[in-house]
Amino acid sequence: MKIAIAKEIDTAESRVAGTPDTVKKFKALGADVAIEPGAGVKSGLLDADYEAAGAVVTADAVKDADIVIKVKRPEASELSKYKRGALVIAIMDPYGNDAALKSMADAGVAAFAMELMPRITRAQVMDVLSSQANLAGYRAVIEAAEAFGRAFPMMMTAAGTVPAAKVFIMGVGVAGLQAIATARRLGAIVTATDVRPAVKEQVESLGAKFIAVEDEEFKQAETAGGYAKEMSKEYQAKQAALTAEHIKKQDIVITTALIPGRPAPRLISAEMVKSMKPGSVLVDLAVERGGNVEGVVSGQTAEVSGVKIVGIPNLAGRVAASASSLYSKNLFSFIETLVDKSAKALAVKWDDDLVKATALTKDGAVIHPNFQPKPAA
Ligand code: NAI
Repeated sequence: MKIAIAKEIDTAESRVAGTPDTVKKFKALGADVAIEPGAGVKSGLLDADYEAAGAVVTADAVKDADIVIKVKRPEASELSKYKRGALVIAIMDPYGNDAALKSMADAGVAAFAMELMPRITRAQVMDVLSSQANLAGYRAVIEAAEAFGRAFPMMMTAAGTVPAAKVFIMGVGVAGLQAIATARRLGAIVTATDVRPAVKEQVESLGAKFIAVEDEEFKQAETAGGYAKEMSKEYQAKQAALTAEHIKKQDIVITTALIPGRPAPRLISAEMVKSMKPGSVLVDLAVERGGNVEGVVSGQTAEVSGVKIVGIPNLAGRVAASASSLYSKNLFSFIETLVDKSAKALAVKWDDDLVKATALTKDGAVIHPNFQPKPAA
């Protein structure tokens, strides 16, 4: 059983799918591990560290590998180097990327999307959405503090008092909760909103205030899986009115609102941005899915009437060493379930819930029910 840790070809991707720590764990499972040179450098992990852990560092790492692990979905130039039948495990970003899924099917690989892992107790340790969103939420506050020309905590000094920053978090999933906690640690006055009623108590337990239109629709607004569902136009209008009033008084707004498989909901209009005081900062964590803030530009800080809109994609990648460490453990925990430990060989159980939920392609076809090619009209 050969496992390869691929180097990311996207130069903006600073994370790596394996660490010396998980190399040792894979070796203990009976696998041979190879890694492409320099794969871990941006996460502070040197080739020598991987070698010391028992990996072979070679440009040919993926050739002949039974399992290739990556952070991002492989492109055509990478797929052509993989063995047919290899398992390729990464964050695949499958929604709306039918052509990319087809090229993985055509390459004959079995592609697994880690972000489709079911959120059941057994798979918590494999939950890449949580491990990465938690760090992204933390980093969003750090980016906001960096872009903000004032201090976060209240400071009473002989020369005068600096007021505490007012921070508003929109969307309180894993990222939002960590953003609340981080902003509170920095001394800000924090408020937060979400369409899921279960969140109110969590917000309050972190010492922040919950702001939302709490009508009947709100009370019902959570899917069985614990995710947000799309709200009615009426609810969205009421929520927007409440938000508009609240936002005027905020120094920092951090948006993290996502609905699985859909574009990010637009929560902040250009008008709301303009209503904020000059020097205020918005950080849009949903930028990769279209953004929650009107006017956000991926990879840039846009400035509108003195208000900054920070649109950094892949915020977890800005805490690369921590993100890689957690992501690689998520991967190891999943791969461990694909191995027959006594035979020290791959033994994928294709009817296992975790496999069924994450497997996108196999034997030349897209097999995941959510991504079946549409029949021609
Ligand atoms: P996410 O990344 O899909 O969305 C972020 C947040 O945006 C969510 O809280 C969502 O309700 C909110 N949102 C969506 N539309 C909105 C709108 N129009 N206005 C305001 N907020 C809006 O969420 P994430 O972080 O993946 O968490 C989703 C759920 O999964 C949560 O209930 C979380 O507690 C749960 N979860 C369960 C785990 C497990 O059981 N293993 C692990 C991690 C999370």
